[in-house]
Amino acid sequence: MMNKLERVQKLIANYGAYSRRQVDRFIEEGRVKVNGKTITLGDKATIDDKVEIDGKIIKFNLKHEYFLLNKPKGYICSREDNYGKEAISLVNNYKNRNLFTIGRLDVGTTGLIIITTDGELSNKVMSPRSQIKKTYLVWVNKPINKEISLSLQRGVELDDGYVTKKTKNFKIISNENGKVLIKMTIIEGKKNQIKRMFKAVDREVVNLKRIQIAFHKIDKIDSGLYRRLSKREMYEGLGINYE
Ligand code: URA
Repeated sequence: MMNKLERVQKLIANYGAYSRRQVDRFIEEGRVKVNGKTITLGDKATIDDKVEIDGKIIKFNLKHEYFLLNKPKGYICSREDNYGKEAISLVNNYKNRNLFTIGRLDVGTTGLIIITTDGELSNKVMSPRSQIKKTYLVWVNKPINKEISLSLQRGVELDDGYVTKKTKNFKIISNENGKVLIKMTIIEGKKNQIKRMFKAVDREVVNLKRIQIAFHKIDKIDSGLYRRLSKREMYEGLGINYE
């Protein structure tokens, strides 16, 4: 039986290491070939075809892999920056795999991050419609008063004019000078969102750790270590339909 003919950006996002949007851009820039021929947006292929980006053959992973990593400081979530070591390198069987992180944590941020080969899952999680809850522990430079606490909960205007959505849980664990710690849950993931939210109320985040993504908790995963999950475990833990 012949494998399914699909738009090349979907094919790569499903089986490879790039998002549809990234592949769209690569196609527009003339960097994608199917069986030796440069393609244009909308062209289709199957996983049996030879698909190349910048001359590098895309390996189609038919069976996806899923990890929850507790990212330490100093590790980066993107493959394009040169600030530090790649977070994906902490997953043992990293070699020759199309692993990538879903979303990002800053180089100095620690905690839970999903590593996978499943581009379709990444699209689902990253979609603004998904509203997946992410819970953070936030260490802040100065105590916060009631007014600041309320505006952080209701939503604040970030430096680019975007107004954040209501936080789901907001708990001041400690509010003493030199030891301000807040636990909060957000349902969106703008770039540097937590740090920018506190900047909007004249506070600085001195330490940040993500401890939960939907139902997936960091419990029992030590810093730098990971837990391997089945597809079902990963999807169910994210509250996403598993088919
Ligand atoms: N918000 C931030 O500011 N940084 C992160 O790494 C994650 C959320």
